[in-house]
Amino acid sequence: MDINQLQENFESLAAEDPLWTVLSDNSKRGGQWDVEEFYATGEPVIDDLGKRLERVGLSFQGSSAIDFGCGVGRLTFPLSKRFSRCYGVDISQSMVDYARRRIERGPNCQFIVNDSERLESFKNDSIDFIYTAIVLQHIAPRYTLNYLREFSRILSKGGILAFQLPSHLNPKATDNQKPLRMLRKSTYYKVKSFRQKLSRWLPFIGNDSYFEMNAIRKEEILRFLESQCQLEVADAQTFPAAGDAWISYLYIARKPS
Ligand SMILES: C[S@@+](CC[C@H](N)C(=O)[O-])C[C@H]1O[C@@H](n2cnc3c(N)ncnc32)[C@H](O)[C@@H]1O
Repeated sequence: MDINQLQENFESLAAEDPLWTVLSDNSKRGGQWDVEEFYATGEPVIDDLGKRLERVGLSFQGSSAIDFGCGVGRLTFPLSKRFSRCYGVDISQSMVDYARRRIERGPNCQFIVNDSERLESFKNDSIDFIYTAIVLQHIAPRYTLNYLREFSRILSKGGILAFQLPSHLNPKATDNQKPLRMLRKSTYYKVKSFRQKLSRWLPFIGNDSYFEMNAIRKEEILRFLESQCQLEVADAQTFPAAGDAWISYLYIARKPS
């Protein structure tokens, strides 16, 4: 999916049901999330992140942070309690509008729409901490690798990048052991993607949005962070944020001082 298609997808999903787009629990579809219950899921994630940092001798250090792919600010607001300035960056205007309307949850947050492959709003060496979870899995690998380069460019010296990304399909997941079902699923997404592209020229075809899932092998990511981003990897532990079907990791890397 190219970046324009990605934006159109998230924009239409977010305009319809922003909370379900962030946490796609089937029982909560159609505006069924209780707003307080939804936002309460954010603090434990950031608390767990703090513990993972501690285990490798790091902490929420510095004054500025970015939550990339912030959605409605579920993780941005708790992250903002650990920093004096916190930016939520998202490709969807509707997500950012929703978060801005709840700014009292984190008055030191600033929400920014970014629909580019780069992060032009941020200067080199300017941000102390960057976090992103359940975002890069929806972005085509070529863009993810670009964003990782961008994160490294804007991190301050000694700054920390923490991100979640699936590595590969979980061979033990029941669904993944049914090759015909997998083939049906991947064909279905290819057809959807083709229909979306066609609907730009032939609007009567209709265009229903969906989540694309992507993975990059852990070994490739580790190599890329060190050789292309000049980041030192401090940790890469499993992190089941992409559901049972995927083996996913939380990577923690540091820009040399
Ligand atoms: C599943 S939601 C997760 C939101 C948030 N990280 C959380 O866990 O609460 C994915 C978010 O990533 C955003 N997103 C997708 N592609 C993006 C991109 N290229 N740049 C910035 N945000 C993006 C979507 O608009 C959506 O808000």
